[in-house]
Amino acid sequence: MKTYGLIGYPLEHSFSGKYFAEKFEKENIKNCEYRLFPIENIQEFDALKKQEIAGLNVTIPYKEQIIPFLDELDQHAEAIGAVNVIQFKNGKTKGFNSDYYGFKDSLLIFLPKEFNSKALILGTGGASKAIKQVLIDLSIPFKVVSRKEGFDFTYEELNSKSEILEDFQLIINTTPLGTYPKVEEKPDLPYKALTENHYLYDLVYNPSETAFIKAGATQGAKTLNGLEMLIGQAEKSWEIWNRS
Ligand SMILES: NC(=O)c1ccc[n+]([C@@H]2O[C@H](COP(=O)([O-])OP(=O)(O)OC[C@H]3O[C@@H](n4cnc5c(N)ncnc54)[C@H](OP(=O)(O)O)[C@@H]3O)[C@@H](O)[C@H]2O)c1
Repeated sequence: MKTYGLIGYPLEHSFSGKYFAEKFEKENIKNCEYRLFPIENIQEFDALKKQEIAGLNVTIPYKEQIIPFLDELDQHAEAIGAVNVIQFKNGKTKGFNSDYYGFKDSLLIFLPKEFNSKALILGTGGASKAIKQVLIDLSIPFKVVSRKEGFDFTYEELNSKSEILEDFQLIINTTPLGTYPKVEEKPDLPYKALTENHYLYDLVYNPSETAFIKAGATQGAKTLNGLEMLIGQAEKSWEIWNRS
């Protein structure tokens, strides 16, 4: 039996647990299990890795704390400073960031080839760092919006000068605003300034049509929620664990 799994704490609502159970069933993948390892302290990873583990995902609060415990880091995970996939190969552990790949692949499908505007990234947390790295690698210029001072724009600045949005036709929500059950929440933007030339990408996937997406669609903008990224990062994990 090959054991894959997820470390984090707490782990009550795991997308990955359900996703891999269904994948093994649907694709008739035998002798594999995906287990949840709710560890209360990252030091417990050392004991865990002595078990027969074929691959792990990492979630909150350990995506950064895990790094010193690993033998190697993939270049993107290193640049982002966060790991959500651990490969176990030849007795060594290597950290990857599959959010990077999940976002990049879905963005390339979402945007038209001729897209040549700039992007706004809303929020400055863990996911925002992976998104930044993708935009750097795709040579899409971007600015970051935060509630805090010290970033490119605050929400107040965008609302007082809504014409700024003309120059940023890709807007990516990396804040948790709008996530179930607070489905009426959305980033504080001047939505009336959006047009059919805008592309709104919401990392939130529950509900599938967030208030952010609804407000953009009302203005004729193209929209995408976070489900494809979520599935993409899970499939990338599987590919990383099973690389020969
Ligand atoms: N679809 C996927 O595969 C996928 C992958 C990763 C994450 N996600 C989703 O992305 C979201 C962010 O995840 P994360 O790990 O980056 O979370 P995080 O580290 O908590 O960061 C979220 C950021 O959003 C901003 N924010 C938080 N609360 C806010 C509020 N009330 N109003 C305005 N801004 C607020 C903050 O930035 P400022 O303080 O700078 O404003 C914060 O740093 C979550 O909903 C997560 O489920 C989805």
